[in-house]
Amino acid sequence: MDADLLRADLAALYPQFGLRVAHAGTVLLGPTDEELLELADLVAEPGGVVEPGRSGELMGWPEDQGEVAARRFLEWAWRLREAPTPARWRAPLAILDGGRALGLAVLAHELDDPAGTVRTSSWLARAEQGRGLGRRVRLMLLELAFAHLGALRAVTGAAEGNAASRAVTGRLGYRETHRVTGGDGVVEVHAAITPATWRRRRLPDVDVEGVDAFLAAVTS
Ligand SMILES: CC(C)(COP(=O)(O)OP(=O)(O)OC[C@H]1O[C@@H](n2cnc3c(N)ncnc32)[C@H](O)[C@@H]1OP(=O)(O)O)[C@@H](O)C(=O)NCCC(=O)NCCS
Repeated sequence: MDADLLRADLAALYPQFGLRVAHAGTVLLGPTDEELLELADLVAEPGGVVEPGRSGELMGWPEDQGEVAARRFLEWAWRLREAPTPARWRAPLAILDGGRALGLAVLAHELDDPAGTVRTSSWLARAEQGRGLGRRVRLMLLELAFAHLGALRAVTGAAEGNAASRAVTGRLGYRETHRVTGGDGVVEVHAAITPATWRRRRLPDVDVEGVDAFLAAVTS
C-alpha cells in the first residue's frame, strides 16, 4: 500500500499519523514500518548516526550495531505507538526528504510533565548532520507545538558533551533549567524555551496539516 494511504488509514485510529509538518522540501510524518526499517538500517550501520566511540557523549545511545541495534530501535519506535490522551502523548515523526528517511524526531508530553509542556528530541543520519537540518527540524517541531498545539513551554535535554545538540538548543534561545548525572556518569543538560523566545527565531513558511484530530485527542 502507498505510504500516504496507509498513513491516512492509521490516522483514523491514531491521529498522530495525520500530522504533517513541511518546510523547504523537508517533511515530518508519522513513520510507516517501511520508513522505520529505513531508519533501522541507519541505526544498524556502524557510525550511521553517531561517530564510533562517541556514544558516551550522548544520553543513553547504545554502542550496539547490526541486527541488535535495528531490533532495539524498532521495538523502541513501536512502543511509542499508542492512542494519544491529554495525560500522555507521543508523536514520533520521520524526517523525510525526497522520499528518503533521514532521521527521526519526537514531540511528546509525558505523564509527569506539567500541563502545556512538550518535549522534543531528534537524530539525523550522520551524512545529513552539520548542514542546518537539525536546527530546522527543531523549529518545525516548535511550530507544531507552539503555533498549533497551544504548548506553553518546550523542553529538551542533551549530554553535556553533545556539542551539536547543545548548539541547536543554545542558539535558539533556550534557557538551561537543570543538570542531572545519569547512572552512567553522563551529565545531562536540560533546557526550556517559551513561545515568546521561539517567535524571535520562527521559521517562515512552515506548513502544518492534520492538527484538528490530534488536538481533539490531546485536549481535555
Ligand atoms: C544533534 C543533531 C540533531 C543536530 O543537527 P545538525 O543538523 O547536525 O545541526 P545543525 O547543522 O542544524 O547545527 C545547528 C548549530 O549547531 C552548530 N553545530 C553543529 N554541529 C556542531 C558541533 N559538532 N560542534 C559545535 N557546534 C555544532 C552549528 O554550527 C549550528 O550553529 P549555528 O546555528 O550558529 O549555525 C544532529 O547532529 C544529530 O542527529 N546528532 C546525533 C544524534 C544526537 O545527538 N541527537 C540528539 C540527542 S539529545
